[in-house]
Amino acid sequence: MGENYQVGQNETRVQEFILLTFTGSLHLRIFIFPLFLIMYILAISGNLAIIILVLSNGRLHTVMYYLLCNLSFLEIWYTTTTIPKTLPVLLGRSQSISFTGCLLQMYFSYSFGCIEYFLLAIMAYDRYVAICHPLRYNTIMDISLSGKLAVSSWLGGFIILSAPAFLIARLSFCGPNVINHFLCSVDAWIVLSCSETHAIEMAIFLIAVFVIFSSFSVTLLSYIYIVSTILHISSTNSLQKAFSTCSSHFAVVVIWYGSTIFLFVKPSKSRSLETTKTVNILNIIVTPVLNPFIYTLRNKEVREAFRSSLHLK
Ligand SMILES: *[C@@H]1O[C@H](CO)[C@@H](O)[C@H](O)[C@H]1NC(C)=O
Repeated sequence: MGENYQVGQNETRVQEFILLTFTGSLHLRIFIFPLFLIMYILAISGNLAIIILVLSNGRLHTVMYYLLCNLSFLEIWYTTTTIPKTLPVLLGRSQSISFTGCLLQMYFSYSFGCIEYFLLAIMAYDRYVAICHPLRYNTIMDISLSGKLAVSSWLGGFIILSAPAFLIARLSFCGPNVINHFLCSVDAWIVLSCSETHAIEMAIFLIAVFVIFSSFSVTLLSYIYIVSTILHISSTNSLQKAFSTCSSHFAVVVIWYGSTIFLFVKPSKSRSLETTKTVNILNIIVTPVLNPFIYTLRNKEVREAFRSSLHLK
């Protein structure tokens, strides 16, 4: 890994890559397999449950829960870009992935990751308006504005990542084709290229800085205002309400930022790929599993909606 493979040594262009998943014995991978499978099923069913709950409950037809719906919808796709491919690979089957497959997996997982940052920022802004300007909330954060913001984050993510995807599509791969990862992550992949990759690394770094910096500043500013407002609330009832709607979002923000910031810090050779894989597991499977639980456990409205829909059946 990390050596330069000169162009022209061997003109056969690599068409396929081999995913290595976890180094170690097959026994270890067979142990990881059920873990991934269960987590994947939990992530899909948990997030589907949130979507169904919000859509079927009149009381949850508010901007905050529509945005939560967006987040759950996003996370279903986010894990689905990688895990269904990782599962057979863990069992030692169909370990190869085509060039196009790798490119698409990377493009979609990074786009969805980018959209997650934007959605979390919009949700934080929504909570800021709800808590700091409760009387004007309905006029500021109406369905139309939130719809526009949601659509922009989806489009934004797909458009922004199309630039590096275009650059990567033109790379040549002529050397070894073994990816030491369970997914096509940019840093594990482009070291295999025999083309010049500085432009791509730069583009990805700038995009990461832009996406993380812009969404982080919106999120942070919203929370600074929220906290300073909450500190001045005297009624226990509204304090509790404000706290319960914010704390679940805040927990999700902390988990998401905690598990991704690390990945975007410029990849260095000294950082072991095994660490990167572990962090990838966190944000690709663990976060989507946790989010629905966080929202159902910490949020009274969601809990009540959940209970009432259970009684109906
Ligand atoms: C996403 O949020 C917008 C704005 O509230 C809403 O109109 C839309 O239905 C949501 N989409 C999904 C898939 O949840």
